[in-house]
Amino acid sequence: MDEKVKMIIEGQTHEFPVITGTENEKGIDISKLRGQTSYITLDNGFGNTGSCTSGITFLDGEKGILRYRGIPIEQIAEKSSFVEASYLLIYGELPHQDELDKFALSFTKQAPLHPDMLGFFEGYPTAGHPMALLSAMVCSLAGYYPELLKPEPSEEEVKFTSAQLLSKVRTISAYTYKTSIGESFIPPRDDLRYISNFLNMMFSTKEKEYKIDETVVSALRALLILHADHEQNCSTSTVRLVGSSWANLFASISAGVCALWGPLHGGANQKVVEMLEQIQVDGGNIQKFIDKAKDPDDHYRLMGFGHRVYKNFDPRATIIKQKAHDLFDKMGIHDPLLDIAVKLEEAVLKDDYFAERKLYPNVDFYSGLIYKAIGIPTVMFPVMFAIGRMPGWIAHWKEMRENPASKIGRPRQIYTGHTERDYVPMEGR
Ligand code: CMC
Repeated sequence: MDEKVKMIIEGQTHEFPVITGTENEKGIDISKLRGQTSYITLDNGFGNTGSCTSGITFLDGEKGILRYRGIPIEQIAEKSSFVEASYLLIYGELPHQDELDKFALSFTKQAPLHPDMLGFFEGYPTAGHPMALLSAMVCSLAGYYPELLKPEPSEEEVKFTSAQLLSKVRTISAYTYKTSIGESFIPPRDDLRYISNFLNMMFSTKEKEYKIDETVVSALRALLILHADHEQNCSTSTVRLVGSSWANLFASISAGVCALWGPLHGGANQKVVEMLEQIQVDGGNIQKFIDKAKDPDDHYRLMGFGHRVYKNFDPRATIIKQKAHDLFDKMGIHDPLLDIAVKLEEAVLKDDYFAERKLYPNVDFYSGLIYKAIGIPTVMFPVMFAIGRMPGWIAHWKEMRENPASKIGRPRQIYTGHTERDYVPMEGR
C-alpha cells in the first residue's frame, strides 16, 4: 500500500505521499501543500528538503557511505581513471573499452581553446582570483562554441559536448595559472592522458618539459575522482537551479563554479592551508586556534572540519589522508604543515565541543596539502575542486533536463518586512 503522512493544519487533516528511494530513504512529497492549505514549509539551509529525485550519487552521512551510480567510492578511487569515472557519473554505467576510447577521443578534438578566447587571459589582472576567470571562461564557451549547444542534441552530441567541457576546463585552468605567473601557455597534447596533459600544461615551459611522475598522477587522479560528485551540495544545486530555467550547460556550470568558490564549500581547501600556515607562523599553538573556533563570540571556524551531511566521518577524507601520507613518503617530502594537520586532527577528535557537534575532518582537510606538494599554488585549490566536480555538475544538469517532470526552481519565502505603508516625500522624511 502507498505510504502517506497526515498533517493537521488548522484542524483539517491533509495527506501527503511518501516517496521511498532505492536505499529506503524516505521523503514526504509536499508539492501540493500550498495548493491544498496555503501553507509552505520553511527550512533554513535546506537541511531537510529534497529538491529532486536523483539516480547519480548515494550518500549516507551517518554511516560514511558514498557511492557513484551504486559503486562504492573506495573502489572507484582505487581502480578507475578520472575519465572513466566521469563517464560513469554522466551516463550511468561503466563504459566498455570502445565507448571509453570514443569518449576520450572527444577530449582531444578541437582541444586547443578558440584563439579569440586567449584575449580574456591577457585582460585579467594577474593577482585576480582564478575562480572568477574560470567561471567567466566557462560561461563564455557558449559564445565561442554555439554549435555545442543544440536545442535538441542527440545522445552522441551530448557526449561530445560533455567531453569538450571536461577537456576545455582543464585547459582554461592551466592557462589561468600560467597567466597568474606571467608564463606562456603550453597547449594541450593529444598523446597525453587527462591528468598528465593537465600537469604538462601547468608545469612545462617553452624551455623545459615537465617530467610526469606517476606518483603525482595517481594522487591527483584519486583527488579528482573523490571530488567528482556529492549529490545536492551548494554548487550542484546551483547548477540544477540555474539549469532549471533551461539555461544552457555552460551558463549553469559557470554558476556552479561561483557557488563552489566560497570558503564554506570548495574554497575551504585553500583556507585549510592558509589556516595551517597561520598556526605555523604563530608558533604552532594549536590549542589557541581550537579555542578561537569554540568561542561563541568569535565567527572563526576550523577550516576542513564539519560537514552538513557527514556526521560520523567523511569517507573521502579517510582516503585522502592516506594518499597524502603515501605521496609525501614516496616523494621524500617533509612538510611541517602535514605534522600540524595531524596534530590538529588528533586534538580536535579528543575535544568534546567537536564531538558533540559531530565535526570531523572533511574532504578539504588534507587535499590542499597534496596540491601543495604537487606544486599547485594555494589560490588554485578551488580550481582543482572545480575540475574534479565538473562531471558531477554535468551529470546533474543532464539528469534534470532529461526528466520531463523537472520544473523551474522557484522557492517561496515567509515575508518579514514592513506591512503596507505610504511613500513619504523627501522633505517629510
Ligand atoms: N569549526 C568550528 N565550529 C564549527 C565548524 C568548524 N569548522 N563547523 C561547524 N561548527 C559549529 C557551528 O558553530 C555550530 O555550533 P553551534 O551549534 O554552537 O552554533 C555547529 O557546529 C553546527 O554548525 P552549522 O554551521 O549549523 O553546520 P552546517 O551543517 O550548516 O555547516 C559546514 C557545514 C561545512 C559549512 C561547516 O561545518 C563549516 O563551516 N566548516 C568549515 C568549512 C569547510 O571545511 N567546508 C568544506 C566542507 S566539505 C567540502 C564541500 O563539500 O563543500
